[in-house]
Amino acid sequence: MTAITISDQEYRDFTRFLESQCGIVLGDSKQYLVRSRLSPLVTKFKLGSLSDLLKDVISGRNRELRLAAVDAMTTNETLWFRDNYPFTVLADKLLPEIAANKRPIKIWSAASSSGQEPYSMAMTVLETQARKPGMLSSVSITATDISASMLEQCRAGVYDNLALGRGLSPERKRTFFEDAGDGKMKIKDNVKRMVSFRPQNLMDNYTLLGKFDIIFCRNVLIYFSPEMKSKVLNQMANSLNPGGYLLLGASESLTGLTDRFEMVRCNPGIIYKLK
Ligand SMILES: C[S@@+](CC[C@H](N)C(=O)[O-])C[C@H]1O[C@@H](n2cnc3c(N)ncnc32)[C@H](O)[C@@H]1O
Repeated sequence: MTAITISDQEYRDFTRFLESQCGIVLGDSKQYLVRSRLSPLVTKFKLGSLSDLLKDVISGRNRELRLAAVDAMTTNETLWFRDNYPFTVLADKLLPEIAANKRPIKIWSAASSSGQEPYSMAMTVLETQARKPGMLSSVSITATDISASMLEQCRAGVYDNLALGRGLSPERKRTFFEDAGDGKMKIKDNVKRMVSFRPQNLMDNYTLLGKFDIIFCRNVLIYFSPEMKSKVLNQMANSLNPGGYLLLGASESLTGLTDRFEMVRCNPGIIYKLK
């Protein structure tokens, strides 16, 4: 039978490894999380025990295993139109303001998880185009995540009833999805076409992604150390066009992390503008 115990030393080594790979800080007592998320990989990679797996992951001997372990340790909780206000602000303030510059608008969903955030942005853009014809010339959305399995789900764009039931109104479901069989629904091509997906570790360099007018970096910084948050935020400032905007998760703020942005109160919600 596969051993699923993990020693204090193994836990310490793994948490150090995880932080160095993707910035995620696990804290002192998340052994259960490591056990529950990595145990399936013991069988998948035909290893003898969780200890063997941790050794191989940390030594970096097996690249596929290392990537699978990091992927398994990411928390991918998400929903459609999460917190609502970011999408209202996008429709009512950001898109009209940036459209006034008469150039293509570029938006980045910097931790897209299974696609609900970038597709909610795309639906918001399509609704705005229908409400204000001619206002938006061209809008493109880049969605990135460190997790290969999440990017696969994004690209498939197929969601089950549980996922569809979280934050999506019946009207939006009717307008933007089609039947995919097995009780699932698929995002329609006109929504999908607006979004391109690519892998991006937020610890790495983003210059190749180009510059954006709006960045959503929501509910991912919470997993990082203050130093890492600061590094990511300053790099995001460099990835914004002049006057660009950054939107964080509802429980996240920039306090003590960067001075590159000014706070804009949107009632409801706070967003950040590049200084
Ligand atoms: C909780 S989800 C947030 C999804 C979405 N932004 C939202 O607010 O609903 C966090 C996402 O961050 C991704 N993530 C974690 N560490 C990352 C890193 N270093 N670089 C890029 N993405 C990362 C995870 O894979 C996960 O999909």
